[in-house]
Amino acid sequence: MPETTANTPRERTTVLTTPRLRVTTWLPGDLGALRVLHTDPRVMAHMASGVETPERTRARLDTFLREQQTPGWTKWRVEDAHGALVGRAGFRRPHRTAHRELGFLLAPALWGAGHATELARALVDWHEAHPEPGIEPALRAYVFRDNLASRKVLERTGFRLLGPDGDDTRQLVYERRQ
Ligand SMILES: CC(C)(COP(=O)(O)OP(=O)(O)OC[C@H]1O[C@@H](n2cnc3c(N)ncnc32)[C@H](O)[C@@H]1OP(=O)(O)O)[C@@H](O)C(=O)NCCC(=O)NCCS
Repeated sequence: MPETTANTPRERTTVLTTPRLRVTTWLPGDLGALRVLHTDPRVMAHMASGVETPERTRARLDTFLREQQTPGWTKWRVEDAHGALVGRAGFRRPHRTAHRELGFLLAPALWGAGHATELARALVDWHEAHPEPGIEPALRAYVFRDNLASRKVLERTGFRLLGPDGDDTRQLVYERRQ
């Protein structure tokens, strides 16, 4: 089970809504639904972690729960109109530079209908509305070279290719300036 601490949330809150999706905070009970996504080889094909072990996904959810407390942003839960978890999207904490890093992942049933573009636009707006000391105004994203769907989403959301990621040649770095 995910860690239970004094800060463990009991209620879900809504971070933002798009025409078809709702971005919410996580609860510890989301682990099973998150595992469905993170063990789907189609979904994880372009993710650095690949298909995840139960321990890896549990650690990931613990991180999301911790980050949504502090600093107050993370890769949040995405639900459809019925309240079912259909993805995760939001921001990774800067790992090499002082930039928030945009990330999104959706269940295959939703692919190809503009959902990720809708989410990415809403998250860009959230980023711009929530500046923070020590965080660069420009938003970044890291994407595998052959992840053409994700690259298309980034490009039509205003991201520009900076070049290859120096530390992982499989990946490209994109940036969106305000
Ligand atoms: C990447 C992902 C989020 C895209 O979600 P989505 O809702 O299908 O995205 P959208 O519909 O908004 O846009 C995708 C675009 O890429 C296009 N596309 C999809 N596969 C493609 C491919 N192999 N080559 C070229 N274009 C492709 C789609 O046709 C669409 O463009 P269009 O609207 O002009 O037709 C989804 O595929 C996913 O969750 N993949 C697994 C996780 C992942 O890779 N996350 C990103 C990590 S950086």
